[in-house]
Amino acid sequence: MGEKHPQRIKTNMKQISLLLTSFLIGTMVIAQTPNDIAIIPQPVSLEKKSARFVLSSQTKVAADAKNVDVQRVVRLFTDKVKTATGFTLAAAAPGVKANAISFTLNKTADKAIGKEGYILDVTATGVQVTANDAAGLFYGVQTLIQLLPKEIESQTVVKKASWVIPGVHITDYPRFAWRGLMFDVSRHFFTKQEVKDYIDDMVKYKYNLLHLHLTDDQGWRIEIKSLPKLTEVGAWRVEKTGTFGTFTPPAENEPRTYGGFYTQEDIKELVKYAADRFVNILPEVDVPGHSMAVVASYPELSCTPGTYRVNSGEKFMQWGEGTFSALVDNTLCPANEKVYEALDKVFTEVAQLFPFEYIHMGGDECAKNFWEKSDAIKALMQKENLKDMHEVQSYFVKRVEKIIESKGKKMLGWDEILEGGLAPNAAVMSWRGSKGGAEAAKMQHEVVMSPNNNVYIDLMQGDGVIEPPVYKSVRLTNSYEFEPVPEGVDPKYIKGGQANLWTEQVYNMRHAQYMTWPRAFAVAESVWSPKEKKNWNDFIRRVENHFTRFDVAEIKYAPSMYEPIFNASKDGEQLKVEMSTEVQGLDIYYSFDNSFPDRFYPKYTQALKVPVDAVSLKVITYRGAAPVGRMIVMPVAELKKRAEKKK
Ligand code: ACM
Repeated sequence: MGEKHPQRIKTNMKQISLLLTSFLIGTMVIAQTPNDIAIIPQPVSLEKKSARFVLSSQTKVAADAKNVDVQRVVRLFTDKVKTATGFTLAAAAPGVKANAISFTLNKTADKAIGKEGYILDVTATGVQVTANDAAGLFYGVQTLIQLLPKEIESQTVVKKASWVIPGVHITDYPRFAWRGLMFDVSRHFFTKQEVKDYIDDMVKYKYNLLHLHLTDDQGWRIEIKSLPKLTEVGAWRVEKTGTFGTFTPPAENEPRTYGGFYTQEDIKELVKYAADRFVNILPEVDVPGHSMAVVASYPELSCTPGTYRVNSGEKFMQWGEGTFSALVDNTLCPANEKVYEALDKVFTEVAQLFPFEYIHMGGDECAKNFWEKSDAIKALMQKENLKDMHEVQSYFVKRVEKIIESKGKKMLGWDEILEGGLAPNAAVMSWRGSKGGAEAAKMQHEVVMSPNNNVYIDLMQGDGVIEPPVYKSVRLTNSYEFEPVPEGVDPKYIKGGQANLWTEQVYNMRHAQYMTWPRAFAVAESVWSPKEKKNWNDFIRRVENHFTRFDVAEIKYAPSMYEPIFNASKDGEQLKVEMSTEVQGLDIYYSFDNSFPDRFYPKYTQALKVPVDAVSLKVITYRGAAPVGRMIVMPVAELKKRAEKKK
């Protein structure tokens, strides 16, 4: 894609001269764009220029030596350049512009670009990055890196004939101030270094917020000095592997060796690492549900007396159509004053560790079936005049809001906190679609959009016959369709959006990368780029360019966007299957005879009638002569099941 195809040569002289002209134009175009310009997220405005700049060992960097933030941005850039090119870019003497990359803070440059915007000029003699603030220079650097050849992503020195940067004039700034990724470090634990690596990857796409889901039924991951059992007990479970949520219950004395937590020193280090890259960390302490690790540590905080264990991935919740209940009480007791005392301690320490202005208190998926049986809850309802379990939860959330505000922070919660009455100042993170967010915005509360159908990057990104199983799919197309401002909502209440990586089925960092990319490219574009600049086909061209960069960087990504979408149906007794692809211009080849198809097999052109004795449909997609995506083996029995379900 984006290539120019040589035209067919004809012998007629006029045509030859025409051809020469078009050839010259063709080479000029190619000379103008030595690298396929492929910036993600799409900048606000990008003008290609004919000149180009060649980065060499002689290139200098010019920046205000006294501004520590600017110097840090410059160092992050020069370190990356050194790693991949071997060049040590020296500082330019003041005023030197030739063969230099200049970083300039100029508060009067362009007010419209705000604190995070930048202007980037690449000319034959040098590169200029201008911004109002160091954050803007940092994002200018991310764009500059994306303009360099893909080998800039190498972790070792690459000998390259020339490091060409195409000429451009770019003006760019974000659509939203909140551009987040959530990383669940509770279900599976990820080390401090892994979290730093995640930050390194997200900032390339101009994300500025890392939401750490620090606590859940499967592990408490932050040291709280005044409540040491939260990590002595709550951070550890039995190591299990397979499909999380279906494990055999651990034996009573099985060693609880899987887990870990961040010490307060670790947290400080992470906060600084993130801040150095203009990323805020939003801590989440998920209460009153999702609290098995808490009650395993301090059972007196439950409404239901008993002995609790940190969940190791065995089933303990019952999920139905729009309903759920807990088989084991994993909640904190809103009727118990000790709960508020404990949360006061937790939020005191959390507030001291994280400079970000918000603390997330969860509030999602709290089973109420044990509360319904609790005498203490009945007494609370009477005393506080609460008419149902939603109001009980709302009472709890309002008290938590007071605690969080007493620490000088603002409270944020999942959209369940709307139920039973929203706390007076709460911000809402809308995950069950955009409805909760729209409702909160209409009540003039701040909202972060995170609708599961678009941005839940724990869900499968393709068909369940090939993807690691999760209950549902969110394809790249769905992520690209993410629009943070719902129809009829005042945009001023929408702070932005984020994608969420829950990690029940994510056991390691390589798989975390696979689940994140490319969908996080799509979300980055939804929260940074102007809505009218979004263009699916051009996005895919850029995604493919970034795949080549990820190959160099050895970061994993999912090829699922190349793989077909199956649609099975029944025409009387005849089983039929239709296939399509998210990416345009691909061919699907298939077999029903159990052998592996390639491009010499039948090409899919219309709905297939499944032969009566076939046991599997095997498919692979190609672009021209090149296979893309993976071989998919679709059992005919599975197609039958899907067709039956639709009837
Ligand atoms: C959530 O996905 N339970 C917020």
